[in-house]
Amino acid sequence: MKATCVLGLDFGDEGKGKIVSHLLSQKTLFGKNKFNLCVRYNGGHNAGHSIILNGQKIITHIIPGGILHGIKSIIGHGCVLNPTKFFDELKYLQENGVAWSTNMIKIAYNTHIITQEHIEEDSKDTKIGTTKQGNGPCYRDKYARTGIRAEDIKELKPFLIDMYEELQQPNLNVLFEGAQGFHLDINWGPFYPYLTSSSCGVSGVIDCGVQPKNIKNVVGVCKAYTTYVGAKKFQPDSYGILENIQKIGKEFGATTGRVRQVNFLDLDRINKSIDINGVDTLIINKMDILNKVGGWRLYKDKYLEYFISERDFKSYIKKNIRKGVKIIFSYSPERI
Ligand code: IMP
Ligand code: MG
Repeated sequence: MKATCVLGLDFGDEGKGKIVSHLLSQKTLFGKNKFNLCVRYNGGHNAGHSIILNGQKIITHIIPGGILHGIKSIIGHGCVLNPTKFFDELKYLQENGVAWSTNMIKIAYNTHIITQEHIEEDSKDTKIGTTKQGNGPCYRDKYARTGIRAEDIKELKPFLIDMYEELQQPNLNVLFEGAQGFHLDINWGPFYPYLTSSSCGVSGVIDCGVQPKNIKNVVGVCKAYTTYVGAKKFQPDSYGILENIQKIGKEFGATTGRVRQVNFLDLDRINKSIDINGVDTLIINKMDILNKVGGWRLYKDKYLEYFISERDFKSYIKKNIRKGVKIIFSYSPERI
């Protein structure tokens, strides 16, 4: 098996959906899909992956991007699943011209289920600023061993699989799709308790039953600036440029519609994510937004560095990102 992993290096909303979609559309020399399996490895309906497919914007929350490219897709056992929302999303895809069948979309039998009680509890959250999708309470019950799993829900039976059996098939080329970002990770996020409840990095991929040596390519995604949604104060009080980035970059949550707090890129934080996850390729999205705003700044060693041009900004990044990482600057919501 060969595995490629796409993960967010910051606080989510880095534009992973676009990258996943680009990779999944790649073909072999013989015109077949390069990837033959797509696995979502963490999180639940808290994620919102915006993908532009043939000019049409599609937002998914739990269903892996593979389904948009006719590639078999699995919701892995590191995820949590709300069955009602899952069926709603299948309906939404169908209404938007995306075909699926129970052979194409699968769920690990031991994926934990988000119940109505979980959602009601999470909807009362004021402390963390969650997406109110029931994620935290569901993971809590999973680890307390009091939860219910996909295998307990009759309607999900046609979708169920075992990750071991699936990932032992011959000639697999699997794309693992991460949700949220490494700095929201339950273990690695710096702002506990302002985190999500899952493993957002490559450890989440390994937990799916992948031998570490089979992870051939780790693609890390960030933006040319940083955003965060949640109750922690993240954006400085007065910073006109950041407000312009929020507006021009349309920084609103895909799941909740909340305004995302904006700050400048922190290179040390990105390097930390690179170090821990073994990132091979770094994609820096939304360069076009910084260009429109005309403010090239970033943090290095806690200092805010100013640049007079995009050229200077980029060459500073190239010099200061870990050696050996391939960097791609991206300027379009549709392409890399
Ligand atoms: P939860 O994952 O809904 O419990 O929310 C916990 C924290 O993670 C909150 O700050 C959320 O805003 C944040 N979060 C969860 N999912 C996403 C996402 O997909 N993008 C950005 N932030 C997220
Ligand atoms: Mg998102």
